[in-house]
Amino acid sequence: MLFASVRMLPASKAMISFGVATVAAAIVLTAHGQTIAQPTEKNCDTPTTPFCDALMKPIAGWSGHIFKLAQNYPSTAPTDAQPWRKLNPYTEPGQYLQSVLEYFYEGNIRSSVEDSFDPALNSVRGWYNAPWQDHGVNGREFVHGLTRERTSLSQELDPKQTLQWSNYAVGFYNAPGGVTIGKVWAKHGDPNPDLADMPEGTVAAKLLFTTAPVDQVPYLAGSPEWQAYVYTGVGDPRLHPLNIRSIQKVRLLQIDIAVKDSRAKETGWIFGTFIYGGGPGHASDPAVTGWRNVFPVGVMWGNDPDYPSTGQLKQTWLNPDVHMSHVGYQGRLNGPVDNPNSSCMSCHSTAELPQGQMVPSGSDDVARWFRNIPSGEPFDSGRKPLDYSLQLEVGLVNFLQTHPDIFPTSMPAAQVKQVHNDKNKPLSRAGVQ
Ligand code: HEC
Repeated sequence: MLFASVRMLPASKAMISFGVATVAAAIVLTAHGQTIAQPTEKNCDTPTTPFCDALMKPIAGWSGHIFKLAQNYPSTAPTDAQPWRKLNPYTEPGQYLQSVLEYFYEGNIRSSVEDSFDPALNSVRGWYNAPWQDHGVNGREFVHGLTRERTSLSQELDPKQTLQWSNYAVGFYNAPGGVTIGKVWAKHGDPNPDLADMPEGTVAAKLLFTTAPVDQVPYLAGSPEWQAYVYTGVGDPRLHPLNIRSIQKVRLLQIDIAVKDSRAKETGWIFGTFIYGGGPGHASDPAVTGWRNVFPVGVMWGNDPDYPSTGQLKQTWLNPDVHMSHVGYQGRLNGPVDNPNSSCMSCHSTAELPQGQMVPSGSDDVARWFRNIPSGEPFDSGRKPLDYSLQLEVGLVNFLQTHPDIFPTSMPAAQVKQVHNDKNKPLSRAGVQ
């Protein structure tokens, strides 16, 4: 079987001198007199400064929302409600997932859609963003911190969809996860991947938005819309020079959840996803719109390594009320944006340094990507496991590739060199084109 590679091409990032400050060249094109965002000055992402919020500064005259990276990582996590603990993930997967969603929503949903999911405004609990996602052409934009994700090919979202559309996302970790991010990145110039162990009770949640309009994907009617500084067209912007960024509306399509839960014996993690409007052909109540109009697609706690390719999967539960155009490989869980030849846990099990190959290709032994790898073990022996966190992987790879001179003290020099030189920089679900 052929697998579309999810790996991205190496970032073509030039360094430009701006007065005394050195800046990473981002989007400095000018087209038709339009104001284009300027690259971030390097008073951030250095060993002695905070992490950058985004790849570029807000465009001139911008008065809308501005993303601030939530980087006040706590040293210990406060005691907090964990409503999913009362539910059995194996026998009550739908309720389990819903309870994590409610926890994520608390304090994050505001009357203003644009101000929703801004950790600085949440008075219920802290949520934190992973650093160093602001690099390369897919890096964080300035309005909501969205990174570019995989392109949706025609009919992947809905049978009516005739065109391709781009997707963008932003992820958050709760305080337990924030503690680990803070430890790994305690020294901004010398991160320590040995500490990438997410504690029990970690929740990571990710909002995915699409540029697809409602006439192409009817179940998106009433979906929360964010403004974002995203590419006008689809496809890799390095291959399509006319594909430049501008402020556009994007619509909520998918919400991803990952929970560190030791009751999940296979891997230590539970992954689940929601689709806005219930997906193709779903008879949703037209009166229900907004953030709450999302439906669980399914939950997985393992990759069903011995699955004979037909019959019931034992470690994925799919919601019978939702009829997706596709899920993952052989029916394992994946979301609408995701590569149908992968699964949530397959791709995330590759989180390691040097970076693992996220999806099998060509003559690869597919079964390697559908093992149940316990938390704390790497995908490839001898590498450093990053506990299913691909945002830690993306950030660490971005950091090391930006600094070919830096060798973190906790990593063998040969491995650091491999990351410095690795030309198959993956760095997001993007990359199909
Ligand atoms: C083919 C690869 C791939 C697949 C499949 C995939 N992801 Fe991810 N995911 C990523 C990458 C890369 C990141 C980090 C960069 C980013 O946020 O885009 C990520 C980030 C996340 C995050 C933020 C925390 C973290 O671990 O970095 C969550 C939560 C998440 N994904 C959940 C899911 C869920 C749930 C599914 C299945 C419905 C899924 N993912 C499927 C590649 C994948």
